[in-house]
Amino acid sequence: MMLVLITETPEEGSRIAGRLVAQAIKQTPALRLGLAAGNTPIGLYQNLVDLHRTTRLDFAHVRLFSLDEFIGLPSDSPNSYHRFFHQHLLDHVNFDPAHLHLLNGQAEQDIVSYCVSYERLIRNQGGIDLQILGIGQNGHLGFNEPGSSLNSRTRRSLLSASTKYNLARAFDSESVPEWAVTMGLGAIREAQTLLLLALGAHKAEIVAKALEGPLSAFIPASSIQLHPSVVLVLDRHAAGSLNNQDYYLQQSSQVMENNHWFLEPSFMQVAQTGLPAKP
Ligand code: GLP
Repeated sequence: MMLVLITETPEEGSRIAGRLVAQAIKQTPALRLGLAAGNTPIGLYQNLVDLHRTTRLDFAHVRLFSLDEFIGLPSDSPNSYHRFFHQHLLDHVNFDPAHLHLLNGQAEQDIVSYCVSYERLIRNQGGIDLQILGIGQNGHLGFNEPGSSLNSRTRRSLLSASTKYNLARAFDSESVPEWAVTMGLGAIREAQTLLLLALGAHKAEIVAKALEGPLSAFIPASSIQLHPSVVLVLDRHAAGSLNNQDYYLQQSSQVMENNHWFLEPSFMQVAQTGLPAKP
């Protein structure tokens, strides 16, 4: 199912998304977790770090993968996603480096065979259980820009002008790369559950297009409509342009009430099999 949870504030959205990921780790200590970068999931990672500190949430067995990376940035660049994951999560939790598989934008291998080997690695590990996702303002997922095949595979992707424009603000003096490597939309959909987080009014229009608009390569994130098990966590601003908002609020109140959860035994299972009746 497509489970849409709408929260009052972005902080609450990050907290709930963090708790969902933590719940998945507690139930499956060797969870295969797909990480996404961008501003949106920073609060989610902060919540995971807090839970690691306060409840000893254990990352020792979690297998970590990443969704995308810039090509050609020096390894010490503050703008690489490699650095991002270390800064916001990895430097603060007890992950095992042997279980860390971040896409490498400087792979020496030919890019086509590198992408094939990355997908093979994921398959050999049994596939991704839970994939964290954000959404670009132009509808991209990872770096699958508008025009990406809905069944695309992991590959090198040319960044669009709008993506480069949005990234430029964060890049300071370094120029935004032309290319990135990204898991394809088809590869992303092979994850068992997708957890998409969108926060803020600037995401409202694209969230509505992705969730309620026609399935289209022009809105790559609309490809989540094809997935059988998706959880979206939106704050009320990001949810602001949804036509079906009342129904989603009804869904939200079914699972969240006075800070109480009805997502037992597991939200991933609920996303697959449907909402349980409220006790
Ligand atoms: C980035 C990443 C995406 C991310 C998106 C949204 O460029 N490639 O994986 O989801 O754009 O970013 P933000 O969360 O900063 O809005």
